[in-house]
Amino acid sequence: MADKKAQLKIDGLDETLELPIYSGSIGPDVVDVRSLTAKGLFTYDPGFVSTASCDSKITYIDGGKGVLLHRGYPIEQLAEKSDFLETSFLLLHGELPSKEEKEKFEKTIGGHTMVNEQIHTFFNGFRRDAHPMAVMCGVVGALSAFYHDSLDIRDARHREIAAHRLIAKMPTLAAMVYKYNIGQPFMYPKNDLSYSENFLHMMFNTPCEEKPISPVLANAMDKVFLLHADHEQNASTSTVRMAGSTGANPFACIAAGIAALWGPAHGGANEAVLNMLDEIGDESNIDKFLAKAKDKEDPFRLMGFGHRVYKNYDPRATVMKATCDEVLAELGLEDDPQLKMAMKLEKIALEDEYFVKRGLYPNVDFYSGIILKAIGIPTELFTVIFATGRTPGWIAHWNEMISGDYRIARPRQLYTGHAKRDYPG
Ligand code: SDX
Repeated sequence: MADKKAQLKIDGLDETLELPIYSGSIGPDVVDVRSLTAKGLFTYDPGFVSTASCDSKITYIDGGKGVLLHRGYPIEQLAEKSDFLETSFLLLHGELPSKEEKEKFEKTIGGHTMVNEQIHTFFNGFRRDAHPMAVMCGVVGALSAFYHDSLDIRDARHREIAAHRLIAKMPTLAAMVYKYNIGQPFMYPKNDLSYSENFLHMMFNTPCEEKPISPVLANAMDKVFLLHADHEQNASTSTVRMAGSTGANPFACIAAGIAALWGPAHGGANEAVLNMLDEIGDESNIDKFLAKAKDKEDPFRLMGFGHRVYKNYDPRATVMKATCDEVLAELGLEDDPQLKMAMKLEKIALEDEYFVKRGLYPNVDFYSGIILKAIGIPTELFTVIFATGRTPGWIAHWNEMISGDYRIARPRQLYTGHAKRDYPG
């Protein structure tokens, strides 16, 4: 129901248009512009900077205040008191699980961690040095070939099983991508381990040697997954929703989300941060690179800085920084040169008028790469980790849309090409 109305007076149109305005539970109001099409008008918003594509109850962000809520719970509290699987349950079902529900969910996820043995053969088509995100796109998309005929997306139970399969299998596939890249055999999941312990086991253990998993590193891994779990209608989540709006297979929709996440402006930024720190080399070059970041003629941007929504600190970056300190202390790497340079870069940028005026603060990707590198994860695998963490968010948004009243997403355009012209001769 419209709370308020916007009056729109358009040159050449006699009538004043009335557009309904809706209010959410919190956050900005929205103007319903759907009636404009009947008047022969479209709205124009490249990059969807000012466009609400849907209504959702999952995640709320206040970019000006640096607020991130998952089903109303602040990310700082979830990072401190919850864990990745509990937060995944919260995103999917809207409420924190009871003790029994949590145990059942963990057991259910544990029951889906293996992938069909046929998936192993898909890897052999890739070069060993293929980029991990290229392989991840391929093998997650391939899952749709194994779960299609038995999947009716109109059935809530089928949607729930698909969600469980995806959350459970992403770490297994991510570890397989790594093992294939380094020429080691795949490790099977061990369901007596926690979700993040299991991932580190599949990543770093071998059939010849199984070392105990460090609880500090497992906790850090879990926090990295949790901090990436969801983020409203970001580019990759919007991609999943758009693909899902056609009724496509959910495994294929998640593969589409992985493809969108790959870009350095989005999920590829964590890998780009480490590459940038390598390129800067040492603190004496920081000023030169900051000048490049401010130079409109130079495509270089300060990776891990800035955000479409946050014009204040990304609350995830704050938690990630604290986790970074814990991990490096545990590993005796407090004097890690890259961390020291990242902190120096952050300090200088936060005092620089160019960044302050534009509200450019460190985002989730600025510190995550340093943690992942300290854990021993190669830079090229960072965005695969991001995709694994974001999967519950992607599938929660897909499920929210499919379980509700939705239409196929089909934006229009401002056409600036040729008007009709006849073929010569
Ligand atoms: C993620 O949407 C999400 O929620 C994403 C994410 C999630 O969880 O899903 O939070 C994850 O993608 C985080 C962002 C990771 N990307 C990076 O760290 C890459 C570096 N950041 C930039 O590419 C940029 O800040 C974006 C892409 C993140 C945001 O771009 P916008 O909103 O389109 O902003 P803009 O490009 O219009 O920039 C506004 C101004 C411009 O200058 P002016 O034209 O005003 O002079 O700020 C400048 C930009 O040139 N600017 C930067 C900058 N980011 C913006 N200048 C230097 N370095 C930067 N990083």
